[in-house]
Amino acid sequence: MIEIVDIRYCRLGTADLDSTVAFATNLIGLEEVDRADGQVYLRGDHRDHNICYFEGDPNDHTFGLEVETLDALDAAATTLQAAGIDMRRGSDAEAVARRVMGFINFKDPTGNSVDLVVRPFHSGRRYFPSRDAGITEFSHIGIKTDDAARDEKFWSGLFNIRANDRIGDAALMSFDKVHHRIALFPTDHAGIQHINFQVESIDDIMRSHYFLTERQVQIRFGPGRHPTSGAMFLYYEGPDGMTYEYSSGVRNVDADWRPRQLPFKDESFCMWGARPNIPEFSDN
Ligand SMILES: [Fe+2]
Repeated sequence: MIEIVDIRYCRLGTADLDSTVAFATNLIGLEEVDRADGQVYLRGDHRDHNICYFEGDPNDHTFGLEVETLDALDAAATTLQAAGIDMRRGSDAEAVARRVMGFINFKDPTGNSVDLVVRPFHSGRRYFPSRDAGITEFSHIGIKTDDAARDEKFWSGLFNIRANDRIGDAALMSFDKVHHRIALFPTDHAGIQHINFQVESIDDIMRSHYFLTERQVQIRFGPGRHPTSGAMFLYYEGPDGMTYEYSSGVRNVDADWRPRQLPFKDESFCMWGARPNIPEFSDN
């Protein structure tokens, strides 16, 4: 069993690096940390970075999950190989670019690219936002799947990852107490489906709703509240068609939590009645 201890980053190709970074800083409220070799690092919390954008194919997505030690990374490589999963060890130069002490990369059965990283960099300085969106942390991602049942089995079979609720086949999964860290959304190809930042309160969500709407940012869903996690949310469209989310109030689950099955309907995504304009969330 591969023990994941944290979710660290997304690496995203973009067609226009400068305008994507401008969106991330001026609208999402991330801090630009560094630029090196055509890559720009941004964050919304104590980590070195949460997103690294690079000039490239906007469909080129990778996310990073953390294991605790170098030994755990070696054991993970062995586990993946034994399961017949192609994996490769990252080079020193690639580890430098990811700001980690080591990593391996593999693809899940749908083809999502995953870095398993060890000892990722922490920042020695507090997060200093470029706009006060109220962000407290990078918290979860949605990933696309072309077979949700198969991919849930992959994640829960090889990793300490389990579903805490399901909406249709969409599994809301976690490796720690937070209700979900990775959510699977059925479609027909690989990719990161949305990127979530927690914000401090409903006031931040509503402030951002007006702020983004005034600036003609496409709101995709919300403001609303998920009946599964209990989080209040706002989803909006960023560069290259990526969906970003602010949410607040995600529940923690304990060992007694039993996953619930909800139907794949709009009401299962929002208990207030908001209608999603996100293909993977919509039943019509
Ligand atoms: Fe989310």
